[in-house]
Amino acid sequence: MKILVTGANGQLGREIARQGTEYNLFLTDQDTLNITDGAAVTNCIQQLKPDVVVHCAAYTNVDGAESDPDGAFRVNVVGSQNMAAGCLETGARLVYVSTDYVFDGFKKEPYREFDVVNPQTVYGLTKMQGEQIIRQILGRHYIVRTAWLYGDGNNFVRTMLRLASQKQPLRVVADQFGTPTSTTDLARTIYKLIHSDSYGTYHATCQGQCSWYEFSTEIFRQHGLAVKVMPVTSAEFVRPAMRPQYSVLDNYMLRMTVGDPMHTWLEALKEWTIGKK
Ligand SMILES: NC(=O)c1ccc[n+]([C@@H]2O[C@H](COP(=O)([O-])OP(=O)(O)OC[C@H]3O[C@@H](n4cnc5c(N)ncnc54)[C@H](OP(=O)(O)O)[C@@H]3O)[C@@H](O)[C@H]2O)c1
Repeated sequence: MKILVTGANGQLGREIARQGTEYNLFLTDQDTLNITDGAAVTNCIQQLKPDVVVHCAAYTNVDGAESDPDGAFRVNVVGSQNMAAGCLETGARLVYVSTDYVFDGFKKEPYREFDVVNPQTVYGLTKMQGEQIIRQILGRHYIVRTAWLYGDGNNFVRTMLRLASQKQPLRVVADQFGTPTSTTDLARTIYKLIHSDSYGTYHATCQGQCSWYEFSTEIFRQHGLAVKVMPVTSAEFVRPAMRPQYSVLDNYMLRMTVGDPMHTWLEALKEWTIGKK
């Protein structure tokens, strides 16, 4: 199977590359394929004729997007439109990675795939519009929403470990809930999906839920670090983009179709921690 990967230098793109050695992978980053350049995308897809495009590239700076909505739109919407149009022309299938931020976070139980979206941030809005444009252009798509992702790159786990050696106590938000998800589990799920013709929208996060505060204390526990962490409220930790209070996703469509291979967030974090030691 020939697979074109966008954003291959990002944390998910790297894991897709790591797990994809049995495939004919074509890895691109912003320098080799800027997804906002429609002609370059068309050329690339026409020449390569991939069976599948795993589209990991995105404008992921959630706070930065608030003051740069056009920049976020260009990458997350126009870039995704370019990928979908290229796939339509050549018959390739497309994986688009989306986010829990398409929801408002006001629900009190896990979101399912067909719950009403209502993004509260520019990032969430542009990721939702990216989903919409892909559904409009291309039937053979897999839209995979994930959340609280960590792997090889910038993420919460790395930030906590870095801050632990700098200042204490650490102040971490305790009233926002979600599910930490490893790129290892997410990439495994994406490879499972592309072997099926079950096109559509999926939630793909690890199992269970916690607050950022609980996540941080578990990171330190698993690393054997005695770090003082102080729980704070969202109101005490204001950022440019509002975070959802509750954005736990239910992998309902995975269970209904190809099966749900995701571990609990505790198991996945343990595997990641052991791999890094
Ligand atoms: N991280 C999370 O917690 C999270 C949660 C839910 C969903 N997601 C989604 O999961 C996907 C993967 O996220 P990630 O954490 O792996 O993100 P990431 O580490 O920030 O990687 C994104 C990659 O996209 C590249 N990129 C940005 N603009 C581009 C452009 N115009 N053309 C080509 N490449 C471009 C970036 O390149 P540069 O480094 O050169 O800018 C970067 O390598 C994204 O769709 C994201 O929205 C992430």
